[in-house]
Amino acid sequence: MSGTDTLLAESIQAISAAEDERVLDYLRVQYLGKKGSFTELLKSLGNLPAAERPAAGQSINRAKKTLQNAIDKRRSELVIAALDDRLASEVLDVTLPGRRQGKGGLHPITITIERIKKIFASSGYVVAEGPEIEDEYHNFEALNIPAHHPARAMHDTFYVSPGTVLRTHTSPVQIHVMEKGEAPFRMICPGRVYRCDSDLTHSPMFHQVEGLLVDENVSMADLKGTVEEFLRAYFEAEMPIRFRPSYFPFTEPSAEVDMGCVHCGGKGCRICGYTGWLEVMGCGMVHPQVLTMAGVDNEVYCGFAFGMGVERLAMLRYGVSDLRLYFDNDLRFLRQFN
Ligand code: PHE
Repeated sequence: MSGTDTLLAESIQAISAAEDERVLDYLRVQYLGKKGSFTELLKSLGNLPAAERPAAGQSINRAKKTLQNAIDKRRSELVIAALDDRLASEVLDVTLPGRRQGKGGLHPITITIERIKKIFASSGYVVAEGPEIEDEYHNFEALNIPAHHPARAMHDTFYVSPGTVLRTHTSPVQIHVMEKGEAPFRMICPGRVYRCDSDLTHSPMFHQVEGLLVDENVSMADLKGTVEEFLRAYFEAEMPIRFRPSYFPFTEPSAEVDMGCVHCGGKGCRICGYTGWLEVMGCGMVHPQVLTMAGVDNEVYCGFAFGMGVERLAMLRYGVSDLRLYFDNDLRFLRQFN
């Protein structure tokens, strides 16, 4: 066998064993490149007697062509094999259902505020909102709580700067509305409030809904009827309701509202501290001084106000035992309200 035939046999074998395109390229350069074996063979033609050169040259060129064909064939085999591998590993089942977006829902506090709004809207109360960063005047002075008044101690206030606080209740919203508007008024003010207090039953941020009605000839009986109607609508239950004398600087007289425990029906249980009663809101007749400071003529107008904690009302209605559940963002808890 001539040197050309031996080289061809050897190179064809190497090519058919190449296991990827990189190896194949390397072999191509080895055999057919500028310094490759076949090129060297052509260069050595000069050593042959002149009569043998044409035949030897032709046979080398034929061998080169054969090799080039073998390389092309091997390359297409490798491309197809690589594609088959990819298709086998990237299985895509187009019949699988798509990934759906989870369905969102309202937070129980939002649901509760919406329900409270709806109940009062049916009696003509409008919703008023105001800033959470409030000046001391609207949070305290205008509500008949001057500096050094002992009632300030009831509010564990966060001060933002001297004279500016995080509102400790939504009562200041009512002052803003009265200052800007003309009596009569009928509004509820839902929103976040802040007190520097944190334990099992208190969180430094919580929600209140306060209500205010200012008109001619408003009496304590109107207040009682409104509060009773509201509580029965909210809890969708008939239960005893009682008013206990209390004290707020901005109302006179003032009362604390208790209702019969919705859990034990008044027999006494852990929820009501074995008293049979649940304390649910504060209320009273608006202090004439508060009306005057807000620019309302207290000779013509009088009114009542009430305030309640949304977290507490939601706990009582849904049987939530731990205040912190509202703020943990645990989906297992939140999904129960959807
Ligand atoms: N502003 C009172 C509080 O936050 C609640 C309240 C409102 C009481 C209106 C009486 C009348 O504690």
